[in-house]
Amino acid sequence: MTNITADRILILDFGSQYSQLIARRVREAGVYSEMYAYDISEEDIRNFNPKGIILSGGPESVHIEGSPRAPQVVFELGVPVLGICYGFQTMSEQLGGKVEAGVVHEFGYAKIDITHQDKLLHGIADENNQSQVWMSHGDKVARLPEGFVSTSSTPSCPFASASDENRKLYGVQFHPEVTHTAKGVELIANFVHKICGCGSEWNSDNIIEMRIAQLKQQIGDNKVLLGLSGGVDSSVVAALLHRAIGDQLTCVFVDNGLLRLNEGDQVMQMFGENMGIRVIRADAEERFLGALAGVTDPEAKRKIIGREFIEVFSEEARKLDGVKFLAQGTIYPDVIESAASKQGKAHVIKSHHNVGGLPDDLAFELVEPLRDLFKDEVRKLGVALGIPAHMIYRHPFPGPGLGVRILGEVKKEYADILRVADDIFMQELRASGWYDKTAQAFAVFQPVKSVGVVGDGRRYAWVIALRAVETVDFMTARFAHLPYELVDKISTRIMNEIRDVSRVVYDVSSKPPATIEWE
Ligand code: XMP
Repeated sequence: MTNITADRILILDFGSQYSQLIARRVREAGVYSEMYAYDISEEDIRNFNPKGIILSGGPESVHIEGSPRAPQVVFELGVPVLGICYGFQTMSEQLGGKVEAGVVHEFGYAKIDITHQDKLLHGIADENNQSQVWMSHGDKVARLPEGFVSTSSTPSCPFASASDENRKLYGVQFHPEVTHTAKGVELIANFVHKICGCGSEWNSDNIIEMRIAQLKQQIGDNKVLLGLSGGVDSSVVAALLHRAIGDQLTCVFVDNGLLRLNEGDQVMQMFGENMGIRVIRADAEERFLGALAGVTDPEAKRKIIGREFIEVFSEEARKLDGVKFLAQGTIYPDVIESAASKQGKAHVIKSHHNVGGLPDDLAFELVEPLRDLFKDEVRKLGVALGIPAHMIYRHPFPGPGLGVRILGEVKKEYADILRVADDIFMQELRASGWYDKTAQAFAVFQPVKSVGVVGDGRRYAWVIALRAVETVDFMTARFAHLPYELVDKISTRIMNEIRDVSRVVYDVSSKPPATIEWE
């Protein structure tokens, strides 16, 4: 089997909000990449054995004392280097050029005039020899290092890109990794394929083949336990492990009573019946609801749900004999982000991931087959492994489930009402095509009674809020501008079909200042 990570690109992160996107774009071009903080050691860079190096953008100015620099070895290895934005500036400065402090911050769309066609800009130009790019910078390169030529410019930026093709050094002031740069994908493909000479081995089928071989080797004939939640990551881990080791895998699915309508049955049918995976269902609704009785504080509810999960899962795990490994759906952004929060920057360290607080007597070794994959790669893998697309492209669902969508105290009566309301909302979003246009949508139970009229009488019943947001990163979000006719249809159905609901409201708050969830 070919080693599909042999052609590999190293990305050094200078702290730009777009750094992870660079790694994703490189992988979308079929080339394996990893991202490390800019100051990893020379030895680590050599050991990584990159076919090319990309220096990311960053928020700093090279003029600030102590601002980050690329390790000098980057320019000495003889492999191609692409500097993006700050990466281009520090490369220029480090190689003898000059960076000018920006008076005006250039932010947004710009058109570059391509003045010299190098390998990087191959196929980028339109009929006017221009290309649309996305700029976001204050400083700019004012004098190129020796050996470099300017390859494009904008009215405010004489060196929008430049290169020294003899030394295989390239720089762009704009951001090819964001979709606003019209030919960004092509530019990155030019770098990794035409300039670095990488093949295109990094794709779902090859990743699956490689991962299965690795899992077989790591696990041998031992037994593996996996907590299946029904979410994308644990589902893909289950499918992958099942292919690799078959019956040596046992999944535990904890039904906490806070899941969506029929979700427990669907998980059991999908993984148990359709895929033939051994799944133990722990029906723990009463236990969770019992522990939540009388509790209204959202953070206290989250803690209780987390604690009960660990206890139920541990009890199930103890019933199994001879399990050596615990599988987890950790993905690459978790690795980068958990390292970043420790170090204050993106720093990929090979630490043992936290096992989610299992008790000491359950000392498993970890299996994390998605640890080096981005979410979009995990999704593609899932589809290639035969998991239905509607499960793979489902909106995210929080760990505490309906526990944080029932405001205040959680009761079974409330959860049952909310499940039906949420299901009606989802049915209508899917039927109208709005499900895929929103990033997350759900119903929220309001424990207040509002008056309504039924026939000649008045009835006091509960209130359901609908929440639908558009977002890419979930850090900011705007409420989805659902058509009034659709909102009308949903609210009418909810009030007609659920006796105990007398009023439906639509949440028109954006994040910030509101959050996506109500608790
Ligand atoms: P907020 O409400 O913070 O949500 O704007 C951002 C994203 O995080 C999800 N979320 C959670 N996920 N456990 C989770 O696993 C939680 O306690 C939790 N709280 C919020 C939320 O659904 C949204 O996708």
